[in-house]
Amino acid sequence: MSKFDFPENFNWGTATASYQVEGGAYEDGKGPSIWTEFEKKPGSIFNCDNGDVASDEYHHWKEDIAIMKYLGVHSYRFSMAWSRVIPDGRGAINQVGLDYYKRLCDELLANGIEPYMTFYHWDLPLALQNDFSGWESRETVKYFGEYVERISKELKGRVKNYFTTNEFLACSDVGYGMGSIAPGLKLPAKRLNQVRHHVLLGHGTALAALRATSPEAKVGLAENPWFMVPLIDTPENVEATKLAFREENAHFLTAIMEGKYLDCYLEKCGQDAPEFTDDDMKTISGKLDFLGLNIYFGKYVCKEDDKPYRIFRDDIQTTKAGRPGLYYEPDSIYWGCRIVTELWNVPELIVSENGISMPEDNIDPTSGRVYDLGRIKYMRNYLSSMARAISEGYPVKGYFHWSLLDNLEWNQGLHPRFGITYVNFHTLKRTLKMSGEWYRELIRTGRIV
Ligand code: BGC
Repeated sequence: MSKFDFPENFNWGTATASYQVEGGAYEDGKGPSIWTEFEKKPGSIFNCDNGDVASDEYHHWKEDIAIMKYLGVHSYRFSMAWSRVIPDGRGAINQVGLDYYKRLCDELLANGIEPYMTFYHWDLPLALQNDFSGWESRETVKYFGEYVERISKELKGRVKNYFTTNEFLACSDVGYGMGSIAPGLKLPAKRLNQVRHHVLLGHGTALAALRATSPEAKVGLAENPWFMVPLIDTPENVEATKLAFREENAHFLTAIMEGKYLDCYLEKCGQDAPEFTDDDMKTISGKLDFLGLNIYFGKYVCKEDDKPYRIFRDDIQTTKAGRPGLYYEPDSIYWGCRIVTELWNVPELIVSENGISMPEDNIDPTSGRVYDLGRIKYMRNYLSSMARAISEGYPVKGYFHWSLLDNLEWNQGLHPRFGITYVNFHTLKRTLKMSGEWYRELIRTGRIV
């Protein structure tokens, strides 16, 4: 076996999220989400794109599953739109909406693909934002727990793997602090820190609900901590990197893994620190079956003579255009998996997202193919780094490529194309890109190809 081979039972998958791919935004009793409102504000989404249709998976789900079957993936990570199944976030279940997810799961299972469902990928029901200020309030935490409890009972036997939430930073800081995604608010520090605490508590409450309703299910979350890579791999830089990782992620992942907010975080917040109880921290830090890491980039760290660490921003943009802020650092996968394991000894890691946007992806007029060479290069390098982590014994058990389809990249609109499948947004026709063929061959042979 060469060091780039993957174990035979490795879990290969692809990932999407409801608002980004589903469309069907006003169909079959779906309620509005904070995105339905946000997208109406002029300038909120690039090119005035919106989620009305997106990749239209709501109508093309069978076709999308057929693509996955062709790829040979073992699992599909998708998210449920809370307001499709419970339009106001609380109250009656919308049976037609729920049936959509049941059909989706049945078709996946019939094709030998395991559903991995995320309960919350940023599309909060609008009613909860309007009535309770969304994640500013504990009411939203409570209703999130109820939603998870009710829906998991309904999906019994169909879904055996759940992600509670996706990425705390975006749904708190970017949505409630910077205002660049829904709900588009710029709250002062004290209120923002409370939102941060409540999204963590939402995760913990959902986890507890799932333990009660679905003891047979495996539960984790998908998080994108600031990944850190030692500038030079020496023992003292590695120690510095671990310390930097733990402290820089003190408000989210460290709190989940250690059940406390580190003093350095609370001191930094000062009077703006969130309010929380010991019980909250117990709930937040409930034991996970797996930890999902969304890995795109990493910062660099070295030890300095006069301080425990110094952090440098990543510096090479992944693509010329596309989503800003995503940098190219394949070793973020290796170091991410290694540091998390060394710090917290997590039983199972899943790379729950990894991928690259290529605005320049286009169908070649003569061959009808999409030659997304940059994406193949990207996958080859990032996956080699993952293979290294596995070969050194870090417990990486699965990889979900972001994304199965070109989709709506939040406030960046339809322009950054993240899919290994090209979507013509006028006709909604799907065309597998060369990277999809590449991924298929990797899955088939278990080797970097
Ligand atoms: C999110 C996805 C997003 C991807 C690429 C992740 O932060 O979970 O929804 O599309 O990054 O930007």
